[in-house]
Order: sequence, then structure tokens, then C-alpha cells
Amino acid sequence: MKNENKTRQYAAITAVGHYVPDKILSNADFEKMVDTSDEWIRERTGIRERRILENGATSDMAAKAVENMLKNRGIGPDEIEIIIVATVTPDMLFPPTACIVQEKIGAKKAWGFDVSAACSGFVFALVTGMQFIESGAYKKVVVVGSDKMSSITDYTDRNTCILFGDAAAAVLLEPSTDPNLGILDHRLYCDGSGEKYLHMKGGGSLNPPTHETVDKKWHYMYQDGKAVFKVAVIGMADVSVEIMKRNNLTSDDVDYLVPHQANLRIVEACGKRMGIDPSKVMINIDRYGNTTAATIPLCLSEWWLAGKLKPGSTLILSSFGAGYTWGAILVKWSIESPKG
Ligand code: UT7
Repeated sequence: MKNENKTRQYAAITAVGHYVPDKILSNADFEKMVDTSDEWIRERTGIRERRILENGATSDMAAKAVENMLKNRGIGPDEIEIIIVATVTPDMLFPPTACIVQEKIGAKKAWGFDVSAACSGFVFALVTGMQFIESGAYKKVVVVGSDKMSSITDYTDRNTCILFGDAAAAVLLEPSTDPNLGILDHRLYCDGSGEKYLHMKGGGSLNPPTHETVDKKWHYMYQDGKAVFKVAVIGMADVSVEIMKRNNLTSDDVDYLVPHQANLRIVEACGKRMGIDPSKVMINIDRYGNTTAATIPLCLSEWWLAGKLKPGSTLILSSFGAGYTWGAILVKWSIESPKG
């Protein structure tokens, strides 16, 4: 709808890159750790394996993802003006992980900050970054989703430990005056009543770390999976359909749904509700599990590298996560395929 205004400045995604750690934790590995089975995990979640960062922190993965992204764009770090890191596993409560990334990649002229919106982190951060470009104040904004979920996972809790993995992926936003390239529309939501179903109780100002918080395992994430599942299906599907309706898009007009990868069943239900052919739904949860803020840009990076995205491709990015937070973004892809 916004592309009717031909003089508007759009935020276009002009580069993408990702990083995943080498270490693989398979379903068979979990069979040795908790009372579970490869069959249960595959059938209930779609996950076969996930990546684990053995040494280092969220900023290390984010820095590598940004460096890969810069290589793909063919520019140096000194051209970056803003770094926005979406994460729920910051290196520390402060300073912002964005500042640590800035130092690690040598982006001397950039400022930056973190966005905490759990599994919707990348979607919320992308819309935030978009504002800096659309205002005309900035020309190169980096948005990274990076999470070391293994650092807040209780590997004795079979309900959650099989779900999550570590990864990072980044995009570059630059201005475009082409109304058919860039971020065209978005809808974001939150509902704080969801806090009790998905959270990490300890370590913040409510429950600062004590021996008791450690004993009670409050420094690990907690999820009531069943409760979250129901609202995630409805939330992600509704907001994706809302974006289609607002922009008069039929399922044929959409080239790809780029969904947050929390559970294959949620992703498939969302695609079905949108009337989209399964071949147009990006799915890599089988290889990475739920990497929280990294899932959506990781899909973008892999599908671009595989030559499946071309300038003008119509994408709907869609997420649901803790908060609750959820949202969808309509993107017209801008980058030529690396495969020509
Ligand atoms: O990314 C942020 C948003 N998060 C989500 O969207 C995640 C939403 N939730 C889910 O993806 C699913 O609810 C889960 C994958 C977490 C769980 O699947 P489910 O089909 O909802 O299973 P459930 O929680 O209802 O559990 C069914 C049974 C239970 O046993 P009983 O009580 O029926 O005897 C669980 O104890 O499965 C049991 N169970 C397991 N069994 C084998 C739970 N985890 C496991 C496991 N292996 N890893």
C-alpha cells in the first residue's frame, strides 16, 4: 500500500550474511541426555539437529555474520553507521552487545544498541532500522539477529532443551527510491499477559542472581510449550494474513513466507492459513532448531545463497515469541542472486 508514494525513501535489504557454529547436537545425542527419542522430536517439532557455540559469545557469532554480510556487499566496516543487535542472550546485561560487535568488526564510525524482543527480535529490529533509513538520516544500517540459546538452556529439561540452537545472521539496510524494492509494510504486536508462559526469571532486576536463583534454575528459560503453541499458530497466521489483506496480495503474489522457526507444525499451519504452497515456505528448522532472533535472517541468507531469491521477489517475514511479541513485514527483495 505504501508503494503508491513514488517519492518515499524505502529501506532496502542490500546484503545478507550468516554464521552458524560447527558443533552439531543431533537428536541421537539428546537420546543419551534426557528421556526422549529422535522420532518424538522430529514428529512434534521437525528438528533433526541444531548448532552449539562451544567457545565465545553472542557477539562473536554476530561479528562473523556481519563480516560475511559485508563481504557479500563488497564494503568495509567503516561504512556502517548503525548496528542494531536483536538478542535475548546478550554477552552481558550491559554494555549493549552492539557495542561489542562494533569493536570486534572495527566499525569505527558506527553507533548501536540492542533490541530485546525474543523470537520477534529480528522483526522488531528490522522495523526499527527501517526508520533510520526512511527518515533520510542514515544510509547504512546493520540489523543482526544473534542468539546463543545454549547459554540459557537447561539440558536436563526435555521440554525445552531439544528445541533451541545457536546462530547469527545479518542484513544491511540502505535507501532506495524504487517503490518496488525494500520494506513496504509491517504490523507488530505485543501482549504482556504472555510473560508467564515463556520467560527467564533470574538475572534481571526482579530476581537478581543469588544462590537461590541458581538452585531454582531461574537462569534458564522456561516455556509452557502447549500454551505458547496455541497462540503462536493463531498469532503468526493472523498477522501474516493481515499483511496480505492490507496490501491486496493473494497467495500467488507471495514468493516466500519467511517464518520464525519455532516448530515445523506452527510454520506449516501458518503457510496453510495464508493459502501458500508448501514449496514457498522457508524451512530450515530441521538443521538449526529455534535460534530465536537469528531464524528469519538465517533463512534469508540461505535462500539467497541458494539462488532462490531475485530482485522483486515478494516476501512475508513473520514471527511469534516471548512477551508475547509477534509481527509480520512485507519485503520486496533487492539483491541479485549470487548465482547470476
Ligand atoms: O519461539 C518462541 C515460541 N515458541 C513456540 O512457538 C513453541 C511452541 N510449543 C511447541 O513447539 C510445542 O508445544 C513443544 C514442541 C514444546 C511440545 O510439543 P507438544 O506437542 O505441545 O507436547 P506437550 O508439551 O503437550 O507434551 C506431550 C507429551 C508430554 O507427556 P505426557 O504429559 O502426555 O505424558 C510431555 O511430557 O510429550 C512429553 N514430552 C516429551 N516426550 C519426549 C515433552 N517433551 C518431550 C521430549 N521427548 N523432548
